Amino acid sequence: MGKALGQGRRGWVVWSLGLIWLGMLGLGMFNPPVALAAPEAPEAPAIPEAVATPAALFELHCAGCHPNGSNIVRRGKSLQPKALKRHGVDSVAAIATLITQGKGLMSAYGDRLTPEQIQTLAEYVWQRSQAHWKTS
Ligand code: HEC
Repeated sequence: MGKALGQGRRGWVVWSLGLIWLGMLGLGMFNPPVALAAPEAPEAPAIPEAVATPAALFELHCAGCHPNGSNIVRRGKSLQPKALKRHGVDSVAAIATLITQGKGLMSAYGDRLTPEQIQTLAEYVWQRSQAHWKTS
């Protein structure tokens, strides 16, 4: 009995909230201020960078100087396997170290990226280089 009453009351609350909402629609408050709308429609959180794809990480942090595995600052120091080998950066670990510490005109990323992101990038660069940065 008490239970049934409680449910009835809850139903009434839902109803009246619905009516208030409809009333707001009617009054042209279809776009209430964000603060008002937030509880009903929380915005989808932006994807944290930590879970961004390796390709997205590369685009964001590296492609400015290394588009498609090239090097627009020091042309010979591309991310192609031959260049990596010549410069002794021919392993995932060596690439990770270079990203962390920087080299020459390339700044260090140790304080901007997490070790996981650096590892992800190093593996990505290595894999892409093994495929000569071909897109297909
Ligand atoms: C401001 C431009 C710039 C950015 C941004 C940049 N680099 Fe570099 N990168 C360079 C330069 C310049 C070199 C050559 C360094 C040297 O040996 O003098 C280099 C060298 C390298 C090398 C070694 C290439 C070789 O043939 O010796 C790797 C690997 C590399 N970068 C990866 C990355 C990755 C991964 C990122 C993103 C986290 C990145 N770079 C961001 C400029 C940049």
